[in-house]
Amino acid sequence: MNDNLHQLRCFGCGQRISGADARPDFRCAQCGDLFEVEYPGWAVARGHDRPNPGALKWLWRERRCSSETIDQSGVWRFRELLPILDSFGSAVTLREGNTPLYALPRAAKALGLDQLFAKHQGMNPTGSFKDTGMTAALSVAKERGFSWVACASTGNTSAAMAAYAARAGLRSLVLIPDGKIAWGKLSQAMDYGAVTCQLKTDFDGCLQLLTTIVQQAPIYLLNSVNPYRLEGQKTPAFEIAEAFDWSVPDHLIVPGGNLGNSSALGKGFRELKELGLVARMPRISVIQAEGANPLARSFASGNPSALEPVEAHTRATAIRIGNPASWRKAAKAIQDTGGWCLDVTEAEIAIAKAELGTEGLGCEPASAVTLAGLKKLRAQGKVAAADSVVLVLTGHTLKDADYTIDFHRGSLLQPEEAAGHETEITALCRNAVSVDATPEAVLAALKEQAG
Ligand code: F0G
Repeated sequence: MNDNLHQLRCFGCGQRISGADARPDFRCAQCGDLFEVEYPGWAVARGHDRPNPGALKWLWRERRCSSETIDQSGVWRFRELLPILDSFGSAVTLREGNTPLYALPRAAKALGLDQLFAKHQGMNPTGSFKDTGMTAALSVAKERGFSWVACASTGNTSAAMAAYAARAGLRSLVLIPDGKIAWGKLSQAMDYGAVTCQLKTDFDGCLQLLTTIVQQAPIYLLNSVNPYRLEGQKTPAFEIAEAFDWSVPDHLIVPGGNLGNSSALGKGFRELKELGLVARMPRISVIQAEGANPLARSFASGNPSALEPVEAHTRATAIRIGNPASWRKAAKAIQDTGGWCLDVTEAEIAIAKAELGTEGLGCEPASAVTLAGLKKLRAQGKVAAADSVVLVLTGHTLKDADYTIDFHRGSLLQPEEAAGHETEITALCRNAVSVDATPEAVLAALKEQAG
């Protein structure tokens, strides 16, 4: 652990501690809030000591052509901005990051936007954005000599943790809500050898339980309350800025569950600006599902400095979270950048996911809230025609194939949920049809569906 270069600062009371002194639950002993990693050297560095923006940009680009394992990671390629390890040689990496930024021409046209892109974090090794955070925090766990790591999860964190733990030769414990996660994710935790416990509670209950367990056994907690997770998850901000030639998009739209990811991306852009690598930050907006919308409620009530937990319900199981741990950090990222926090309905999520599908981009339902939210922001005049927008797609479509199949079979939504959206849904549904094995039957099916 490179405690010379970094320290932890409490987000609530501002207390600073060394990384080695963090409690197992990563909560501040004084006020109970979460910590953020900070690098004191950056604040004092002036003149020649300050990282040279031009040199860094050149170095990071050069590393894309390197054959070194560490350089091939889209997280550790930016290692100067996350000096959290004693030796970068000990980083546990699956070559995460370096994910594609796709243009969305059809959605852009429909919304009257010039520049609309999707940063597809589902193209990471285990199929979600969690890999970028896991490579960072699991490498810290390894350097600290832990043999067990653990997380509570709606599925993706557990898949990522189990994979990175297996690569590092560590054991992993997964707590998931019974029956409420997608099979694709559960299968990954099993495949990578995690001890997987399905608990008769929700995600919030799993996290609460794990917080108690890590105080009783030498197990390293890898949920996004662990500030090192966010150090990895901030790096897509660097990739986006790099893709925009070190300017930034006007808007970044992120799904909100436990609210670690929006916090991390906010931190990434903030640090780029503080270090003089970019001139400004994008507006960061967070979109939640209507049935799991505690932060959207806080913003709607005009008091984003308070959060009332909710009992969460949504088919976008990845963001089925009613008591998000990182809500204060996310609220600050939204407020500091002039963004918004909204919620979207089950029908709006399903339609947006199918629309992304028509662009050749699959994603999880939780990721599709970004396009659904953008439509609302555009309708409210908060996004202008000339604005550039990046949607952060967080998970791969194959994680939750059941959802997609149910949508196309017309069995996903209840009639009252679909009310008012029937025409859009009918136009998007592409159910498979059973036909006789003859050319005539296939051509007849083609004629029927092509119309
Ligand atoms: N999208 C996907 C696909 C997710 O898996 C998650 C969170 C989110 C969005 C929300 O991100 O929590 O940082 O606000 N999944 C967690 C998990 C909670 O356990 O896999 P967040």
